[in-house]
Amino acid sequence: MIQSLRGMNDIMSPDNKRFEYFLSVATKIAKRYNFEYFEAPLLEETALFKRGVGESSDIVGKEMYQFIDKGKNDVCLRPEGTAGVVRSFIQNKLDRKGGTHRFFYHGSMFRYERPQKGRLRQFHQFGCESFGVDSVYEDASVIMMVADILKELGIGYKLQLNSLGDSNCMPQYRESLITFVTKHEDSICEDCKRRLSTNPIRVLDCKNTSCQNIYVDAPKLINNLCDACESDFEKLKTILSKNDIDFEVDTHLVRGLDYYSKTAFEFVSDDIGSQSAIAGGGRYDKLVEFLDGRATPAVGFAIGIERLLELIKMPEDTRDGYYFGALDEVALETLISLAQKMRQKHRVVIEYKAKNLKKHLNAADKENVTFCAIIGENELNESKIWVKDLLNKEESSINFIDV
Ligand code: HAM
Repeated sequence: MIQSLRGMNDIMSPDNKRFEYFLSVATKIAKRYNFEYFEAPLLEETALFKRGVGESSDIVGKEMYQFIDKGKNDVCLRPEGTAGVVRSFIQNKLDRKGGTHRFFYHGSMFRYERPQKGRLRQFHQFGCESFGVDSVYEDASVIMMVADILKELGIGYKLQLNSLGDSNCMPQYRESLITFVTKHEDSICEDCKRRLSTNPIRVLDCKNTSCQNIYVDAPKLINNLCDACESDFEKLKTILSKNDIDFEVDTHLVRGLDYYSKTAFEFVSDDIGSQSAIAGGGRYDKLVEFLDGRATPAVGFAIGIERLLELIKMPEDTRDGYYFGALDEVALETLISLAQKMRQKHRVVIEYKAKNLKKHLNAADKENVTFCAIIGENELNESKIWVKDLLNKEESSINFIDV
């Protein structure tokens, strides 16, 4: 028997309903924040991610689904959504046009990680990317958008916040961090030794507790921000507080992708095990330029949909639409025509076999419809259909003409 690949799941009952509900809520809220739908290909040139996400990141260094296609192109299944949106933004000359452009997207991402609960090789993200606004109000706005989505879904969270500085303050901080870590080089793990030469900031993110004990005393970027970064970070914290968004500053939050500057954030949940990050994002003011576009400030986030599914609280009653059934074979043709009319406006479940009323009512209940509509020979003769409202239990007879 052929099975799906490890870490690649079907989205089927009961998750499919929550998945769909998540998308409807997230889409509605993204539109309220003036974001428009966007779709990029799943397959891109490998160079896009190497340059965009960064060769020193685990995502690019270890986890890419990379191959040479039949035309000998070096291609890769997207491990994340931002790089593709930025590629398209530049390719379509929106960087030259200027102004503000806000996009939301959702779809599959691929990372060759070791599968475990909450960590898949094909997973789905809902993401938003905003281009052209350098105001920290936009950072606050995208964070509030994630908070709105989680609130509507009934999901509790902790918001962790950090500032990664910019090209003014980061290089100096990097040097002081390197000096600190080099002093402890004999005591840190092999991964951190490698990070020291590839991307020193990422040592702060090490999951090894003995490394973490060392880094407690490391210099903190938050204490070494330049004036502009510091004032933006202060403003961001004030806006969030004024809008009732709780957060904690996590000076070791560096994110696993290399393109961030200034604001970095993660939403985490205590209720889903060790893979606790449900959303992450931040500002990436240099990425457009870095991928050969005209310098454009940008900020965004992505939510990991699978990690949220078990946390979503669906609205209580989700009954919807009609069930159409016949008591006698002779009524079937008319039933189908009536159901077809109804289908132009409503969800309709049709039972093609004649059955008794009790069986139809049970089936209608299982299908989670609001109305059960039945015709037998008697109804056919009177050109009427019997309808029961399964919510308030009221019954009525309706003329065919009124269906
Ligand atoms: P990321 O933190 O790599 O950011 O991923 C965002 C979310 O995707 C994570 O918080 C997590 O919920 C989910 N996720 C990541 N890896 C997996 C996995 N293997 N299995 C299941 N879920 C996973 C980004 O991808 C950035 N592009 C976000 C962004 C957009 N930053 C700016 N704009």
